[in-house]
Amino acid sequence: MTGLVEGKAALVTGAANGIGRASALAFAREGARVAVADVDADGGEETVRLIAKQGGEAFFVPCDVADEDAVAAAVALTVQRYGALDCAHNNAGLGQRQVPLAEISRASWDRTLAVNLTGTWLCLKHEIQHMQAHGGGAIVATSSATSLLGVPLTAAYAATKAAINQLVRSAAMEYAKVGIRVNAVLPGPIGTEMVTRAMAENPALEDHLMQTVPLARVGTPEEVADAVVFLCSPRSGFTTGSLLTIDGGQVLH
Ligand SMILES: NC(=O)c1ccc[n+]([C@@H]2O[C@H](COP(=O)([O-])OP(=O)(O)OC[C@H]3O[C@@H](n4cnc5c(N)ncnc54)[C@H](O)[C@@H]3O)[C@@H](O)[C@H]2O)c1
Repeated sequence: MTGLVEGKAALVTGAANGIGRASALAFAREGARVAVADVDADGGEETVRLIAKQGGEAFFVPCDVADEDAVAAAVALTVQRYGALDCAHNNAGLGQRQVPLAEISRASWDRTLAVNLTGTWLCLKHEIQHMQAHGGGAIVATSSATSLLGVPLTAAYAATKAAINQLVRSAAMEYAKVGIRVNAVLPGPIGTEMVTRAMAENPALEDHLMQTVPLARVGTPEEVADAVVFLCSPRSGFTTGSLLTIDGGQVLH
């Protein structure tokens, strides 16, 4: 049986941990060769080892998504290694320390925007430049259910994720005609380091989540990864500009 993205070349940012690692593994399981991009070299190399262990092909590329030269180089290296860039998951992101809006430091605000928002735009920019010259492709950004909710103590983070939704819609409109589909996944609470850290900082968070997530549990990185690979596969060929919540129903609450 062939995989959903058999023979494709995929780039995943933030692929050294959490959702990005699960996505890189899922792309490889479904037949793609994967560029694992991250600032965390140890975690990135471990993702590459895990992919090799399941019989897939991957390489690690160091990349800070806030650095345009690094993003351009990651795209170029993927094309050089695999001869193409068909799929991209722009997933790298920083959580924000839980503080009221008026207490966010300028440095924290700037870094959250630089990585989450500017980083997502830089990835779109360089991936699209390649894809539009080579017959199209499919891109998924990791936004967040927070982008649709009024969640306290995460103003900078939520603002970046809401802006990502609009970037995705703009890109989907502008590049549909050249065969590039652009979608977003909006995870609710997913059991990664980011959420474990937030729960440690705010012990009331776990109770709050159990009460506000209708499915009454935290999701798994694999549940997000499966949706990402689907959105990059021909099975979702008529889907672009969509914001897919993967949140146990959290935004319904
Ligand atoms: N975990 C959740 O509940 C949840 C919910 C909604 C959205 N998200 C989003 O999912 C994405 C992944 O989050 P996660 O939970 O897997 O977090 P994580 O902290 O486990 O992984 C994030 C990865 O991004 C990498 N990274 C950070 N800054 C980077 C940069 N400048 N350049 C390249 N890589 C960088 C980290 O090294 C890490 O490997 C993020 O965009 C996050 O906002 C997570």
